[in-house]
Amino acid sequence: MSKMHHSHISWQHGHVTKQDRQKLNGHPSYLLWFTGLSGSGKSTLTIQLEKRLINQNMHVFILDGDNIRHGLNKNLGFSPEDRTENIRRIAEVSKLMVSAGVVTLSAFISPYRAQRQMVKDIMDDGDCIEIYVQANLRTCEKRDSKGLYEKARKGEIRNFTGIDAPYEEPESPDLIVNTEKYTIKQSVDRIYQYLLNKNLVKK
Ligand code: ADX
Repeated sequence: MSKMHHSHISWQHGHVTKQDRQKLNGHPSYLLWFTGLSGSGKSTLTIQLEKRLINQNMHVFILDGDNIRHGLNKNLGFSPEDRTENIRRIAEVSKLMVSAGVVTLSAFISPYRAQRQMVKDIMDDGDCIEIYVQANLRTCEKRDSKGLYEKARKGEIRNFTGIDAPYEEPESPDLIVNTEKYTIKQSVDRIYQYLLNKNLVKK
């Protein structure tokens, strides 16, 4: 081959890397892992943040408990083992999405510390940013956006996080957004500012 083809050397293995895709997209790809009680605001925040990032011409996708559990994970319930399998699959999907160059916003209760550690272990180093969506149980129960807390209190739903199943608060999340003290917009601003500071937003 002539010298002219040397610029193609990095393609020799037929393998397009994550870095190649990030370069193509003009922004890094990473996982924002939202954890918190049911009703804490995880889904709402991801929806608003997604809009913000799409407006910056970024490639973004949301993985959400309520959606994924209708498809990929419809065979899983809410025992500790099933939740771990739920989170394991989501982490693997997130890893694929990030490899594909997509900023992935994952909204799952992910109530156990060990599960959230597993996510970090599955992801490449530095690819996972943990965001704790904080709101105390009383507030989430009062919101009861899906009417599930009421059912859990009546015993119609078992293993409900915060009622008869634990939520282990993150010990050192990368970011905490408290949705009791701050509005959705303020919380989204906070996350967006964090991403800007870390150079994770497309210019
Ligand atoms: S996780 O614990 O495995 O991370 P995930 O985020 O996928 O949970 O699903 C939580 C959603 O499932 C809740 O927002 C709620 O709508 C619904 N749900 C149904 N049963 C339960 C339960 N026993 N505990 C928590 N959430 C439940």
